[in-house]
Amino acid sequence: MSKKGRVFSGARPTGRQHLGNYLGAIKNYVALQENYECVYCIVDVHALTTMETTQDLVQNTYDMTVDWLAAGIRPEESIVFVQSHVPQVMELHTYLSMVTPLGKLTDLPTFKEKVRDHPDNINYGLVGYPVLMTADIVLYKSDVVPVGVDQAPHLEFAREIVRSFNYRYGTKVLKEPQMKNTEIPKVLGIDGVQKMGKSLNNHIELAATPDETRQRVMQMVTDPQRAKRTDPGNPEICNVFSMHKIFSPAEEVQMIDTECRRAGIGCVDCKKRFAANLNANLEPFRAKRAEIASNENYVWDVLHEGGKRARAIAEETMSEVRAAIQLPK
Ligand code: TRP
Repeated sequence: MSKKGRVFSGARPTGRQHLGNYLGAIKNYVALQENYECVYCIVDVHALTTMETTQDLVQNTYDMTVDWLAAGIRPEESIVFVQSHVPQVMELHTYLSMVTPLGKLTDLPTFKEKVRDHPDNINYGLVGYPVLMTADIVLYKSDVVPVGVDQAPHLEFAREIVRSFNYRYGTKVLKEPQMKNTEIPKVLGIDGVQKMGKSLNNHIELAATPDETRQRVMQMVTDPQRAKRTDPGNPEICNVFSMHKIFSPAEEVQMIDTECRRAGIGCVDCKKRFAANLNANLEPFRAKRAEIASNENYVWDVLHEGGKRARAIAEETMSEVRAAIQLPK
């Protein structure tokens, strides 16, 4: 089958993945494999920009990889690898930094956010985060990068860096990546207010047991206006309902919509139904996850093999880049 081009995406090694990661990224990664040659990178070097301790890095890399594979990323086709296993990316980052205006880096909203979140650790690497991201993308001659709204400015910036590089060195070696906007549903945590995330501990892990999953679901905050069982609810503002729409059969969603509005169904029942449907949806994932996790060597082999394939592409790009800059041979 001929593919439409190469997709690249990177994600920080955050360990076991949750529903927000699944709906926001992994599901899309899996689907893109149908039409694209996919390169999925675990960006451990990016993670270092905000990390003060590294003792969980190996485990988090492993756990995330297991979840990716269990969710349907196919390493026989797609390249799945660890960023630091391809040191050429650091070299390209340095060359790209020469055509990147510093003021633009420090103006980016993502940089300002990080300064706010980590005022004691504003390091040089953090400023260069988008340059390293650009190096990731162009090192593999990627055609397309799926991005949500938060990463869109980074991709726009990456395209500018590519144009500046090609212009400065009178070359076309670097490919300007296309942005593929992905409809990312905003997945709220069990608090029903903030985005689902590990740091807020408002998440539901994909690998949780059915019991743990049920317990987390039962803690979910529903329509806050609905104080008593006899109050009618408003599904439109209920986080549990938005999850039903993703994981429950259409007739059940319809029934809940109707019954919630006339207090025919209570929040407890509604959540029990959601937990059951979510658990049913996750069953094949859990079975596959258990199988993969029973063979730790397999998981590392996948990453090492991916690294080997990635390095082959990277070395080819880098010889073209070094020649374009006219570095001494
Ligand atoms: N910046 C991305 C994030 O914070 C991670 C990332 C690194 C990335 N390199 C990338 C995403 C290349 C897309 C393409 O989530």
